[in-house]
Amino acid sequence: MSLLPICTYPDPVLRQKAECVENIDEGLQCLIDDMIETMREAPGIGLAANQVGRPVRVVVLDVERGEPGSGLLVLINPELISADGKTQYEEGCLSVPGYFASVTRCQEVVVRAVDREGQVFEITADGLLAIALQHEMDHLEGKLFIDRLSPITRDIFKRKWKKKLKEEGDEVQPCLD
Ligand code: NI
Repeated sequence: MSLLPICTYPDPVLRQKAECVENIDEGLQCLIDDMIETMREAPGIGLAANQVGRPVRVVVLDVERGEPGSGLLVLINPELISADGKTQYEEGCLSVPGYFASVTRCQEVVVRAVDREGQVFEITADGLLAIALQHEMDHLEGKLFIDRLSPITRDIFKRKWKKKLKEEGDEVQPCLD
């Protein structure tokens, strides 16, 4: 297992729609192990493959962050089956480090996915797990939580982010998408 570098905004890979996984082969198992290790080390409660530069439909989650393996979930080709209610939560993202903002999402979701053994499973979630599932599935569509902010909040964020990139000496893209 190895730690993978996490791509940060505005890396274009974060805007790519991830491709469906066709084969759960050795390479994919290796990617999953590396993603789990990278998420734990960060530390984070979820990671989508786009965030480590691989636009394929794989997500790892562990909202419990407790005992090793306690709340660990691996989702391949996840699909939203149903969603209900509304909730707000102060979200952050390993690809937008240091920025947090309140996002409105569905309160309860049912998601169908394939596990790393190739078995289809369904998960019904609410609370933080429901939020994390929606956040990570957004990543697979090339979408970030900052896209869900109000236009004014997003403008303020972009101004702050440009300043931060400049201070870090990174090449500032003319337009943050
Ligand atoms: Ni994220």
